[in-house]
Amino acid sequence: MTKEIDLKKILVIALSFIAFTTTGAANEIDKRRVLSINEMQRDHVLTEMRALLSGTQNILDALLREDMVAVARYARPLGMGMTHKAEDHLKAVLPKEFMQLGMSVHKDFDQIAIDAESLKDPKHTLRQLNESMKKCNACHAGYQIRVEKPSTQSGTHPSHDHHLH
Ligand code: HEC
Repeated sequence: MTKEIDLKKILVIALSFIAFTTTGAANEIDKRRVLSINEMQRDHVLTEMRALLSGTQNILDALLREDMVAVARYARPLGMGMTHKAEDHLKAVLPKEFMQLGMSVHKDFDQIAIDAESLKDPKHTLRQLNESMKKCNACHAGYQIRVEKPSTQSGTHPSHDHHLH
């Protein structure tokens, strides 16, 4: 009889612990989906991100001067060519939708370069840039990067470790 009570107690304690930890995870401040990658992969993604931002700024600067040759020069390196460098190892670890959204941004910049050279219409380029940058926002709203810890590779409480950052 006493054994049965002890078992119940243990169960109640265990269940409340589970409830506590799950609400703890649900109450995280940053609710965007976590991309758990290693330090090198994070560096690769963020370096590319900074290139996208500075490239976009350079395009705007060229647009302001209506220098469409410069627009194409700045847009082209942000195109699909940018992805060939080291993207294979990222394909394996990043979600498909994430990769597709990223690729579609690179395709946009290729199109921006092509149109800047052929149409030479700053307003058209500005419209393209505006549309494409909605994808920057959409992705940033949905994802965050966290560097995976060596200990999480053995599969122990990965959601817990996030609190330690
Ligand atoms: C497919 C998803 C995706 C797209 C598209 C995307 N980004 Fe990002 N970007 C991210 C993620 C994920 C981070 C890291 C966010 C975090 O961990 O809080 C990031 C971070 C950044 C950073 C911070 C870099 C740093 O050094 O910390 C900049 C700047 C940036 N993005 C610019 C852009 C610009 C500009 C565009 C569009 C031209 C863009 N991004 C499109 C996913 C994306």
